Amino acid sequence: MCAGSSAVDHRFPGEGAVSKARQQWKSRAGFILAASGSAIGLGNIVFFSANAYKFGAGAFYLPYLIALLAVGVPVMMVEFGLGREKGTSFPLALGRIGGRAGEFAGWFAVVNALMITMYYIAILGWAVGMWWSALAGDLWAETSVAVPAFDVPEGALPNAIASFFDLISSPRNIIFVVFVWLLNIGLVSRGTKTIEGAVKVMVPMIWLIMVGFIIQGLSQPGGVHGVFLLFTPDFSVMGDINVWHGAFAQIFFTLSLGFGIMTAYASYLPKKSDHTTNAVVVSMMNCSFEMIAGFAVFSLLFAFTVTPKASTLSMMFFIMPAAIAELGAAAKLTGAVFFTLLLLAGLSSSISLIEAAVSAVIDKFKTRRVTTVLAVSLVGIAGSVMFALPMVIDGGLDSNGTLGLTILDLIDHYAFGYGLIIVGLVECLIVGWGLPVEKLRATLNSSSSIQLGRWFDIMIKFVVPAILIFVLGYSLLTDVFDVGKEATPGLYGADYVMKGFDALDVIAPVVWLVMTLGIGAALALTPGHKGADGE
Ligand code: PHE
Repeated sequence: MCAGSSAVDHRFPGEGAVSKARQQWKSRAGFILAASGSAIGLGNIVFFSANAYKFGAGAFYLPYLIALLAVGVPVMMVEFGLGREKGTSFPLALGRIGGRAGEFAGWFAVVNALMITMYYIAILGWAVGMWWSALAGDLWAETSVAVPAFDVPEGALPNAIASFFDLISSPRNIIFVVFVWLLNIGLVSRGTKTIEGAVKVMVPMIWLIMVGFIIQGLSQPGGVHGVFLLFTPDFSVMGDINVWHGAFAQIFFTLSLGFGIMTAYASYLPKKSDHTTNAVVVSMMNCSFEMIAGFAVFSLLFAFTVTPKASTLSMMFFIMPAAIAELGAAAKLTGAVFFTLLLLAGLSSSISLIEAAVSAVIDKFKTRRVTTVLAVSLVGIAGSVMFALPMVIDGGLDSNGTLGLTILDLIDHYAFGYGLIIVGLVECLIVGWGLPVEKLRATLNSSSSIQLGRWFDIMIKFVVPAILIFVLGYSLLTDVFDVGKEATPGLYGADYVMKGFDALDVIAPVVWLVMTLGIGAALALTPGHKGADGE
């Protein structure tokens, strides 16, 4: 599929004149860095490894690659193509094809994604808190800390775990969360200008730090065994539906699809941009990063024979720190670098979602940027603070402990497990049948060095929707009839059913539905601007 990038649109002086009001990326490289910065995030560093380990390590690669090629790359082309075709952000772009219903789907996506960003930023706040503890030495000290809020005595837990529970059960974690929001506000304050400046520094740094981790991991005695495990396929798990479900969910999340981000970002490029190649390049950059991150994580873990448990949070805050602690004198600095890596990768993702939401509001309501950034951020901060609520509701540590983390786990189950995939399905149907996809393909082909054939129409109209309906149907089955429930936890936790607090189990899906459907419908129905056609 790769045919080299065209030289036509590396720089586009004067292109901004086409649409005076709409901001533009300064260069194609800036756009690619921003889009790949969005894609490369916590999902690549910890979630992929947690998933790969859970689903038979090497065996996960094949379903993952199939999911990437069958769904990831085509949907990325649709999202970029939409931005190019309509020259506006996600809700208005879908609205111009599917009317009010289309616009509603777009707002549903933005609200759902904003909910994900709220807890994503809460987790980044915790990474900052752990960074602090890493430098202060708490994570690696000889004597273990106590966790008074949980009634856990000193020495009962390894330091990293104790520090994490101490952090999330203390109101100070809210300060870290608000701090990360302030960083985000600064980075999106001037839109593409500030974002492009930031990703040009952040994305290369993320790669550099990751290469450092790989070298460190592989040079540990025994480290290379982790890589062997990663590449030793266990084909027996291929018949397991959970593996496929995990692979498709992972692809959406990791490529930042179903968030409305890629459409907003692509709408800031000139019309003649080569979006087919852009989609291939961004997907490949993301997935190659994900795989090399797997090298680093697995080699470090196996050098110290720590067995990873399949949850992103435990991978981030317990397992990797436990492996790093084994590095002795190097632990302190390595730990701080690890949490810096998480913060950088997470920030380049969270700013993309805030920008997608901000641009959707500006396009529809013609509001001022600064006001819009502040309004979206205030809503976001309120949500993130909720996910950081420190009240301990389960002192036993055998579920999710604090109120905030429990709500996080529950909302994640719906926003990630269902929300993103519903958006993917609906956008394929709207673009596939409504635009229709033949038109999108002709537009994409008109300025691309890669020519898409009729297979693309079939993928978007039939194959991708069929796969996503299957994934959604399977999730529903597991939720309603408990089929294989244990095997399909949410993104961050291992057990989303809160013991002794079942009311939240019912409240969470209701809140998620009311927010996404209710606010989505309200935004779609409020009269506003229809957005540029971009034609
Ligand atoms: N692609 C990001 C990741 O892999 C997910 C994400 C995107 C989260 C945008 C928030 C906002 O971590």
